[in-house]
This record gives sequence, C-alpha cells and structure tokens, in this order.
Amino acid sequence: MPTLVEIAHEHSDLNEEALDHLNLLLSEWGMLADFCFADMLLYLRMPNSQFIVAAQVRAATGQTLYDTDLVGVSADAVERAMIDQAFTTAKVVTGEIKVETVSEPVNLMAIPVRFEDQVIAVLTREWSQRSGRKPGQLERMYLTIFDEFTKMISNGLFPFAGRGADATVAPRVGDGVVVLDAETRVRYASPNAVSAMHRVGVSANAVGQTLAELGVAETAARHAFERREPVIEEFEQTAEVTLLTRTIPTLKRSGRQIVVTGGVVLLRDVSELRRRDRLLLTKDATIREIHHRVKNNLQTISSLLRLQARRLKSPEAISAIAESVRRIRTIALVHETLSREAGEDIAFIEIVRPLLRLVEEGLQSKDRPVKFDVVGDGGRLPAIVATPLSVVILELLQNAVDHGFPEGSQGGSVLVTLGSSHDHVLTVQVINNGRGLKPDFEMSKVTGLGLSIVRTLVTTELAGTIQMRAGNVGDSTKDLIIARDGDGTVVELVIPVARD
Ligand SMILES: Nc1ncnc2c1ncn2[C@@H]1O[C@H](COP(=O)(O)OP(=O)(O)OP(=O)(O)O)[C@@H](O)[C@H]1O
Ligand SMILES: [Mg+2]
Repeated sequence: MPTLVEIAHEHSDLNEEALDHLNLLLSEWGMLADFCFADMLLYLRMPNSQFIVAAQVRAATGQTLYDTDLVGVSADAVERAMIDQAFTTAKVVTGEIKVETVSEPVNLMAIPVRFEDQVIAVLTREWSQRSGRKPGQLERMYLTIFDEFTKMISNGLFPFAGRGADATVAPRVGDGVVVLDAETRVRYASPNAVSAMHRVGVSANAVGQTLAELGVAETAARHAFERREPVIEEFEQTAEVTLLTRTIPTLKRSGRQIVVTGGVVLLRDVSELRRRDRLLLTKDATIREIHHRVKNNLQTISSLLRLQARRLKSPEAISAIAESVRRIRTIALVHETLSREAGEDIAFIEIVRPLLRLVEEGLQSKDRPVKFDVVGDGGRLPAIVATPLSVVILELLQNAVDHGFPEGSQGGSVLVTLGSSHDHVLTVQVINNGRGLKPDFEMSKVTGLGLSIVRTLVTTELAGTIQMRAGNVGDSTKDLIIARDGDGTVVELVIPVARD
C-alpha cells in the first residue's frame, strides 16, 4: 500500500512542511476516529481537481463501513462536490453519499485541513445511522470532543507541530478518557478512566472537581495547558499503581490569541506492564549473578587442582591435571562473559579471543612460534551452544599446536574461522599449517581424551558434525598462514544454531 508521502509526491504538489503536518495528523487520527466512532479518510487534491484517498483509518470504538482498502481511490461525483466545497470554502461540509456495500445512505462530514494560510487536504468522517452507536452519555461526550478537534483542524490548530502521538506508548481512547474544562475541572470520565482512578484511591465522583483536588495527573495537565501542546507523562500514583497519561489541550482562536478551552486526558493503567519490566530486570540481574558465581566456583576448583598438582611427582599426572585446569578455565571464561552480558546469549567472538590467548599463554617453546588468527565472529550464540563449543574449540586449538607443531618443527600459524553460510548453521574451522595428520589417522579409532571430548560434545550436545582432513590450506587463507611446515590439518565443525 502506498504511503501518504508517495501518493502526495505522485498526485499533488504539497510541500514538505504541509506533508509533515498531514503525517502528524495521521499519527493522531486513530484517536479522532475513536472519538467519532466512524471511518475516516484523508483526501488530497490532484492537479486535475479530482480528490484521491491518501490514507484511511477505522475506529476501534465502532463498526467500519469499509472492508476494503480505499487508498488510491478517487472521490466519486457526489463525494467530490462536498469535499471540494470544504476545500474551497475552508468550512466543514456535511451531507449524504451512497456506498455500494451499504443499503442506507451514508453520512459524510468533510473537514478542511488547514496548514498556515491554506487548506491542504480534506479529512472525511463517514458513518451510517445503522453502524452508529446508540447515543449515551459517553457517545455524546466523545462527539463533543470530536467537534472541538474538528474546529481545531479547520483552524490549523491541530495537529500540534512536532508533537505527534507515539503510537507504541500513547494511551488510546479505549484505555480511559477524562474530559477537562479550562480550569482542569473534570467534565466527564469514561468508565475505564473511573476504574483507573478508583485504583489510585479516587473513589468520589470526580465530575466537577479539578485534577489538583483529585490528586491525579494535575502537573501534566497544567503543563499541557500552559504550553498549549500535548504532554505525555507517567505517574507512580501509588506503590502498586502506575498511570500513563497523555493530556491534549483543546484550543480556539479568539481574535489574534489562542486560548485553551479545555482538554482531554487519555489514561492507561500500566501497572502490570511496569511490574513485568521490573521483574524482568531483576531476573536478568539474577541470571548474571549466577553466572558470576559459577565462574568463581570454577576458579576455586582450578586453584585446588593446581595445589594438588604441586604435590605430584609423575609428569604424566601433572600434565593431566594441567589439562583439566585449562578445560575448567575455558568454561569459567564462558561464564565470565555471560555474567557481563544481558540476556542468555553471547557474542561468541568475546569468548574465542580469550580462548586463543589461553592457548597462546600455554605455549612454552620460543623455538616454535605460533601465530593465531580469527576470521569472522560467529554472531551471537545461546549459552547452551557457546559453552560446549568453547570447550571443543579449546581442544582443537590445543591439538593444532600439539600435533601440528611438535618438538622439532619450526612453528607456523593457526587460524580459526567462524562464519555461517546459512542462517541456521554455524561453521567453525580450526586450521593449522603444521605437520598434518598421520597417514593412518582415522577419526573413529582415536583414543585420546581431547578428540573424545570433541566428538561427544559435537555429536550429542551440539547435534553437529566434525570433519578432519589434510589441509590443502586453500587460497582464501593463504595470507593468514605464514611459514609452512607441512600440509597442515583442517578441522571443520558444522553446528545447527537456532537463531531468532
Ligand atoms: N591438528 C592435528 N594435526 C595432526 N594430528 C592431529 C591433530 N589433531 C589430532 N591429531 C591426531 O589425533 C590424535 C588424537 O588427538 P586427541 O586430542 O584425542 O589426543 P591427544 O591430543 O593425543 O591427547 P589429549 O588427550 O591430551 O588431547 C592425536 O594424537 C594426533 O595424532
Ligand atoms: Mg589433544
């Protein structure tokens, strides 16, 4: 569906300021339709003097006459006569039209939209007697308000410059309406508004009292009346109740002055929303605290293991414990990262970089320098994927160093590539340009602990696949791989990742 701006550019010569005014009107007209219980259309005048529908809105408070979308449709002869009259005389015009899908005549009210000294468009309200609601007090009151806004629109006083309603937060007519006179005295409160006020302790009949006397939203109303523009404000009215209000002054021209005739307060009880916000915040903080503690516990465990290693004599035992310490530190690293970030997923690169450092620190020999690099970042991963995957990558890095560049080799480089060719699959490669796999190497016959951990975690916890192959370390990585000492090895993991 074309937007107002698109239609205006194609079919009219309205300037940008005029279009801004109309866009502001569109940000408010859901409220207008709700107050008048009717469909509304915005017509622009084309150079050939025809009128075209540029936007359409339906009321949340009433039935619509139009199931179809009318944007882009031109006014027929009868409609055009009334709309044109409103456009040229700058006065509200009412009459009847015939709508194919409706048996009885449809009422049409054409409201000129004034901007600065010109009428720039015509707003119509269209309703049939049948779809209209039986007039009760609420209906009469809302129509009175609508009438005030109608006058403001044709006098260029509505919408307010730069003050459109933010549709995502602003309360709506259905949430609750309080109608004020020029002294912020309540003239009317809709049933929902009365209920909201009850919850904050206003039990008396509010009608006839000022907001200050009632102790509700009076500062917002005062500001709105003084500045002659809408004010949106949230009140923690009591410990339990939070009200979101939008106060819109109604204005009229009196000679050269603009005076406030009253206003409407749209109000919404957002207590439940705010309670949930707060709960979410504390939950988030709790989760982070838990990760922090897990990290501390893991550090304690690795310290204990290191103490134990000092008492050992057997080099094999000592290195076994050193390996365990490294694995535990990897998991601690993930928890440390999680404890810093909000939510339950992490930017995986934040873990991979420190992992590389961990392996780099563990390298003892200066005679076999190893250069480490990362390409790609793997995006954000949920903790349940990031934790096992980190342990896996650590083992692969360790193997790349241990078996790629054993004693006697001249060193080389290790490259980690994190990327995903598809949305739901993460491909990870750990590549080295060292000695390469032994000719009789077979994945399924491996007995080492390192690859056993890798296989178990990848196939069960991560539901992915592993491939190890001799590294014809391709062109794409050529630049990153320095000195060559052999064919090298490529280990490739393909991990399914549920991303949202
Ligand atoms: N990147 C690699 N390059 C060459 N050979 C490798 C590589 N990774 C693994 N291998 C071979 O696979 C074998 C098994 O590896 P695995 O990690 O399971 O055990 P390990 O490294 O020998 O001991 P650890 O239990 O300490 O990890 C290695 O002994 C080595 O022969
Ligand atoms: Mg190993």
